[in-house]
Amino acid sequence: MSARKIALDQPESFSFSKDSEKEIKFWLNKYPKPKKASAVIPMLWIAQKQDGWVSEPAMREIADRLGMPKIRVMEVATFYTMFNLAPAGDHLIQLCGTTPCWLRGADDLKKVCADKIGPKGKVTADGKLSWMEVECLGACANAPMVQISNSAGDHYYEDLTGETMGKIIDDLAADKKPKPGSQTGRSCSEAEGGSMALTDGALYDGSLAKKVKLPNTKPKKEKA
Ligand code: FES
Repeated sequence: MSARKIALDQPESFSFSKDSEKEIKFWLNKYPKPKKASAVIPMLWIAQKQDGWVSEPAMREIADRLGMPKIRVMEVATFYTMFNLAPAGDHLIQLCGTTPCWLRGADDLKKVCADKIGPKGKVTADGKLSWMEVECLGACANAPMVQISNSAGDHYYEDLTGETMGKIIDDLAADKKPKPGSQTGRSCSEAEGGSMALTDGALYDGSLAKKVKLPNTKPKKEKA
């Protein structure tokens, strides 16, 4: 497991924005007052959505709001790898390096990220991009893939090659909006070249849509 340390350079202070306050209200309403510390993960998430990372002053603010020891908030933030403990730039690229993605060319994507962005975890000088390697993100059928997180949310980019990854990075650097999803135009995770199963219309005879009587079902009660 990687070491989870907070950044050496921290801002002086942190405050939640108006939009964040609305979200906080929603989440705090979910928990009874004596259990409000349970909102620590949503609060950390809201702080990260606002700034792109969770700073130490943000952790203090959350601890004060939830009436819990600051060290407890820090424990949660440093345990879960989904929380960024240092600035990640406008667009954080999370590159899956697990076996299916690796077998399908994740190393090529890594090379492009390193060439175009720089070393893992370092934000580009213009503050726009950074990248990191993560474990399986659950889209193995569309390997290799990356998740890109920014103010518009988290989006998957799939069926990548070194070339398409490079184009996505260039687009982000130029403030364009690359289209998420399969970069080869596949729909969801269908077979390459289109669906190959049940393509014969004769197979659809409607028999599967007919009602069947299941064994051991209780007979309906007669109306009195
Ligand atoms: S192995 Fe890459 S998404 Fe699962």
